Amino acid sequence: MPVRGMARSMNPARGLQRGNAPAVPRKDRKQALRPLPVTEALHSHLEHARAPVMWNPDLYLQFADERARPFQDLVARINVAAPRRVIDLGCGPGNLTATLGRRWPRAQIEGFDSDSAMVAAARQRGIEVHQFDARDWTPPHDVDVIISNAVLQWIPGHDALLVSWLQAMSAGAWLAFQVPGNFGAPSHQVLDQLVHSATWRDALLPHWRHNPVLEPADYARLLLGTDSDIDVWETTYLHVLSGEHPVYTWLSGTALRPLRAALDDTAWADFTAELKPALAKAYPQRDGVTLLPYRRLFAVARKR
Ligand SMILES: C[S@@+](CC[C@H](N)C(=O)[O-])C[C@H]1O[C@@H](n2cnc3c(N)ncnc32)[C@H](O)[C@@H]1O
Repeated sequence: MPVRGMARSMNPARGLQRGNAPAVPRKDRKQALRPLPVTEALHSHLEHARAPVMWNPDLYLQFADERARPFQDLVARINVAAPRRVIDLGCGPGNLTATLGRRWPRAQIEGFDSDSAMVAAARQRGIEVHQFDARDWTPPHDVDVIISNAVLQWIPGHDALLVSWLQAMSAGAWLAFQVPGNFGAPSHQVLDQLVHSATWRDALLPHWRHNPVLEPADYARLLLGTDSDIDVWETTYLHVLSGEHPVYTWLSGTALRPLRAALDDTAWADFTAELKPALAKAYPQRDGVTLLPYRRLFAVARKR
């Protein structure tokens, strides 16, 4: 079913405009991929954390190969042969969503993302992608697989969402997600120190994120409580990077975005003049190579 009109732009600062969701004709048996109301309590818990900072698909894709590996490792553990409908939650630029069609050629593959630049980039690949916020969404009853790669770390309170999604899913459906487990890594410690320093505290501390990611055992307990069979693990990848300030470049595509948006060009130049040497010290380059260890957490749940 074409889901024309299901995409809704929303102003993250104002939250979802409720009550104006497009109607889905009764004859269309498939449930549309659109936000359904979450409980008011959960909604208000999540509302404060809406982040309006735009993504840059080109910058994000600079390390496409390194960022693809955990997605592939995650999808490899979803043990279903012929799902009807697969949804990539927080699909970003869609390069990884596109690979799902090769794994499940008969499935309807869809993605959604809250960021308009990412949605536009994914649509350019010919993928059916919608724009809305995961916090306003409930899985359609006919979805067989939900994948969320490197998204939930941007959503404080996602543990409650995971439970509500699994509760809404049908028996036999799969939910698989991956989040970075690197909030204790040297890169984050360097940033944490800078953001808390006297020079940058006032400007940057309000934009600095606390770690919303749980430990693997906590995700395991959470998912076991949803009447699901689970598979939870962690992997530390050792990325081999080259070029000048590669860790800074890596972070520019993700963790640095909210800080960049908070500073003007001059202040940003001053900030990065402190940040780059500190990162280079934490991740020394030898023979032109910088090694970036990157811990990631994985969870796959199959609803019983
Ligand atoms: C690090 S990128 C990952 C993109 C893609 N899944 C991948 O693995 O390449 C994070 C993506 O999550 C999206 N995102 C963050 N918070 C979101 C939310 N609340 N609802 C939907 N998408 C969200 C961002 O817009 C961004 O495209």
